[in-house]
Amino acid sequence: MIEQTKIALRNAGSIDPRSIDAYQAAGGFQGLKKALTMDPEEIVQELEQSGLRGRGGGGFPTGLKVKFTRQAERHGKGNKYVVCNADEGEPGTFKDRVIMEGDPHLMVEGMIIGAFAIQAEKGYVYIRGEYVESIARVEQAIKNCYERGYLGSNILDSGYSFDLEVRLGAGSYLCGEELTLLESLEGKRGYPRIKPPFPANQGVFNAPTLINNVETFAHMPVIVAEGGEQYKKRGTEKSPGTKIFTLSGDVKQPGYYEVVMGTTLGQLIYELGGGMKNGHGFKAALLGGAAGTFVDESVMDTPMGFDTLREKGATLGSGAVMVMDASRSLYEMMHSILDFFAHESCGKCVPCRVGTRMLLMMWEGVKGGSAGEKARTLEQMQEEAEYMQENSLCPLGGSPIISIKSAVHYFRDEF
Ligand SMILES: Cc1cc2nc3c(=O)[nH]c(=O)nc-3n(C[C@H](O)[C@H](O)[C@H](O)COP(=O)(O)O)c2cc1C
Ligand code: SF4
Repeated sequence: MIEQTKIALRNAGSIDPRSIDAYQAAGGFQGLKKALTMDPEEIVQELEQSGLRGRGGGGFPTGLKVKFTRQAERHGKGNKYVVCNADEGEPGTFKDRVIMEGDPHLMVEGMIIGAFAIQAEKGYVYIRGEYVESIARVEQAIKNCYERGYLGSNILDSGYSFDLEVRLGAGSYLCGEELTLLESLEGKRGYPRIKPPFPANQGVFNAPTLINNVETFAHMPVIVAEGGEQYKKRGTEKSPGTKIFTLSGDVKQPGYYEVVMGTTLGQLIYELGGGMKNGHGFKAALLGGAAGTFVDESVMDTPMGFDTLREKGATLGSGAVMVMDASRSLYEMMHSILDFFAHESCGKCVPCRVGTRMLLMMWEGVKGGSAGEKARTLEQMQEEAEYMQENSLCPLGGSPIISIKSAVHYFRDEF
């Protein structure tokens, strides 16, 4: 029986999230206290050593990102910034919310460590406006940290100063994409910027910016406290550490589970999730949300990590796992994904603005059609979505191909 291994969720649910005393009593701020005695360069090395990869969906090596941002030239006497991506817009994903509501000081501590590593002066937590409870908890944690000298000028007499504030998003999926988020954070309309330049060089207010996901920051205190080498002992070689999976759909015990990387889908569904409900068998899982992949039974025993899943044509993404039993219609599921992208396309570029609508119309055109008609249409849609991926301005236009391709691969004759 697989057990949970809790790093990001180690206090969530067991301490009062409003109390900084409770957080300290649970070992909070050990990582930060140690970090402030270290050379910032050493922190970068520990993060690189840990092998931590971004938990927001892309899986980019965190240490490398911190290193690039640390090395980036300041613009004159300008600031460097740290931004926490707490937009959590990916359907089926609700892990960042659990951290923010259950243990907000941990995320704030991680941000201060990241900030110290790149010697940033200012930070923002960008939270979606619907996350009312998360906003209140994070604001409270920031206030507590100012009162106890963990934020503000001359943090714990270290000579290092850092300010942090919350900024709210308005609920656009695209505003979770890092460059669009930065536009929104600056108070502009949520349209994407062209990449490169990357945020490490030109982020918020065009200054070097370290932007990471909530869960990614929540790992930093542990990595610094115990050392990257120790951290890396968990999980798989290429995806070390733990990951929170948000399990939903036709399972007996849906919820959030933090387990070591390399845990299989089968362990997640049948051990932690209690198995399938309603007496129907397993049909499919959608891994990673709308920008994720459909998988079938054959992936059940694959250790889940960024690379191991990619070898199977699947994605880990944000850690969302939506389970569908034999009674579910994959046609309807695909329809809701296409509808989602058509709704969330910002309209700035033609391939995505027109393409997302076209995909939806093509799919609606075969509603009630034969399995053969649907399979042929899915293949035409794949061509269209590939064109969109190559010609769209930002990654959203390249997202529909991900689920379509996996549907063709695993369920060509199922629809
Ligand atoms: C359309 C789109 C939406 C995204 N939404 C989120 C989000 O809600 N939260 C998040 O952390 N990352 C999101 N990302 C990924 C971010 O662009 C970025 O990779 C992430 O903030 C980097 O942090 P990490 O390295 O810690 O994962 C999204 C990406 C795309 C293309
Ligand atoms: S790809 Fe879509 S979301 Fe991105 S800029 Fe173009 S229209 Fe907007």
